Amino acid sequence: MKIFSGTSNEPLAGRIAKLLDMPLGDVEITRFIDNECRVFVREDVSGQEVFVVQSLSEVADQHLVELCLLGSAIKNLGATKVTAVIPWMGYSKQDKAFRKGEAISSQLVAKFIEAAGFDAVISVELHSENVLPFFRIPVMEISAHELLRETLFSSERNFTSENAVVVSPDKGGVSRSERFAEKAGLSTVYLMKHRDTATGEVTVDGIEGAVDGKAVIIFDDIINTGATAVTTSKFVKEKGATSVYFLATHAVLAGHSAETLSQSVIDKVIVTDTIAVPTTKHFATLDVVSVSSLLADAIMQQTK
Ligand code: R5P
Repeated sequence: MKIFSGTSNEPLAGRIAKLLDMPLGDVEITRFIDNECRVFVREDVSGQEVFVVQSLSEVADQHLVELCLLGSAIKNLGATKVTAVIPWMGYSKQDKAFRKGEAISSQLVAKFIEAAGFDAVISVELHSENVLPFFRIPVMEISAHELLRETLFSSERNFTSENAVVVSPDKGGVSRSERFAEKAGLSTVYLMKHRDTATGEVTVDGIEGAVDGKAVIIFDDIINTGATAVTTSKFVKEKGATSVYFLATHAVLAGHSAETLSQSVIDKVIVTDTIAVPTTKHFATLDVVSVSSLLADAIMQQTK
C-alpha cells in the first residue's frame, strides 16, 4: 500500500502517513509556464493499493485537476486500486441547479474523479446527501462529530443540561445538531436562519427554545464566509447566552472570514484540518483538531 499527497493539504497527508508508519509517495507536482499542472509519479506503484490525499479546497479547480492527474498517472503505472481521500469535497455546495442555467457542479466533479480512474473515495462529511448518489464508485463517508464533541468537552468539562444547549443554526443542520445534543446529554434550540441568495447576507428570523443564561454550542458543517457563525452567535448572545462555542468540520474560511470571526462574540471556534488552515488565518479563539486518525483508520479498513 502507498499514500500520495496532492498539494492542497500536505500537513494532513503527512499526519496520516505517519500514523500508518509509511513515507508519502514520491511525486513531483509542478506547473508549466502557462500554469497547466504536470504530475510525475517517481516510484513504482504497480500491483499496489494506492491512496491519494487531496482536499478540493481553494483553489478548488486546480486541486481537482491535480487530483485527477495523480489518479490517472498512478492507474497508468499499474496500481491495482486507487482511492481518492478527499477530506473536503469542494463544489458540494452546488449540488443542484439553484437557478435554471446553472450546472450541477458536484455531479460533474464526481464524473471527473471517476473518469480519472479512481476506484473509490473516502471523504469527511459531505455537505449534502445529494452528493453521494452522484458517484457510481463506492464512497466511504467519515463523521468528525465525535472528534469535535470530545475536543470541546475535554476543555469545557462543566456543561450540564441545566447550563448549556446545542443550537442548530438552520433547517439543514437540525438532525446533525440533534444527534450531537443527544450524545452530549443536552437539549437542542432551533434558529430560523435566512440567507439572501443574491447578496449572501445572513439574518436570523426566529428562535425556538431558550438560551438565556446558558452556554451555547452551535454546530455546523462548514464555515465558509463566516456569516452564519457571526450572525447566529450575535443573535444568541443578544438573547442572553453566557458564552458561545462554534463547532464546524470544514474550515473553508473564505475571504476575510478569519478576521471577522476573531472580532466576533464567539468565545471559541473549533474546526478540523480537513482543509489546511494557513497560519495567516489562525486567530486566538480558533482550535484546529486533526481528522488524521479517522482517515488513517478508514484507509486501514479499506485495505482489509
Ligand atoms: C449551510 O447550509 C451550511 O450548513 C453552513 O451554515 C454554511 O455553508 C456556512 O456558510 P457561511 O460561513 O458562508 O455562512
